[in-house]
Amino acid sequence: LTSQDLAGEHLLVTAGPTRERIDPVRYLSNDSSGLMGYALARAARQRGAQVTLVSGPTALPAPLGVNLRRVESAAQMLDAVLATLPAATLVIKAAAVADYRPCQMAAQKLKKQQMAAPSLALEKTPDILSQIAACKGDRLVVGFAAETERLLEHARDKLERKGLDLIVANDVTQAGAGFECATNIVQILHADGRCEALPCLTKWAVAHALLDRLVALRCQRAVD
Ligand code: PMT
Repeated sequence: LTSQDLAGEHLLVTAGPTRERIDPVRYLSNDSSGLMGYALARAARQRGAQVTLVSGPTALPAPLGVNLRRVESAAQMLDAVLATLPAATLVIKAAAVADYRPCQMAAQKLKKQQMAAPSLALEKTPDILSQIAACKGDRLVVGFAAETERLLEHARDKLERKGLDLIVANDVTQAGAGFECATNIVQILHADGRCEALPCLTKWAVAHALLDRLVALRCQRAVD
């Protein structure tokens, strides 16, 4: 029988990409499949947590026993996250949120016959993780860092800047890591300076390894 070591916890986990609309048929997005976030949702549910999964567009089936909220854009993901946050005790942001969106969405499909190639004016999307961390209270908050260079330096900077308890760094240029594949190769950075490098594992195993760290942090807090 699986340990119920997350009983009494409510995990809010985000997964998948966001889509930022250019017009009704085009958008900016990325390669996230949702596999990492959905594995976290299923693993936490199996360990007794109540789970809310806020998911961008993916091809994955809804995990059993999980409260699934489907969204499309970063703005919608922020709204869904903020609506669930008061009930959440643990937050893991595995979603690959688009950092930029078009300043304006065209109401109709842009027609190439009618104009020269348009230039796209972009603005920043809201940083959901920073907003969560700013009002984290007793919650444990975990981010992911998808990097293509200087993995640990960028991940440590995000952990500190966003005020996180843990950050999971993955070098998305490595074979067997990051977007779309069934495995991941991660390093888990702690707020106290520790860094643990895990071998190439299935996303399911990475999910359990991360949840183990959260259980340990909870126990440590109870003692402190
Ligand atoms: O979905 P898969 O195909 O399984 O792929 C898994 C993954 C590569 C998407 C996952 O392992 C991962 O790395 N997720 C985070 C990707 C990402 O957006 O990283 P980032 O370094 O750009 O963002 C850092 C953190 O801030 C992330 O927790 C992100 O959710 C959060 N963020 C980013 C931008 C923004 N506007 N709001 C946010 O909350």
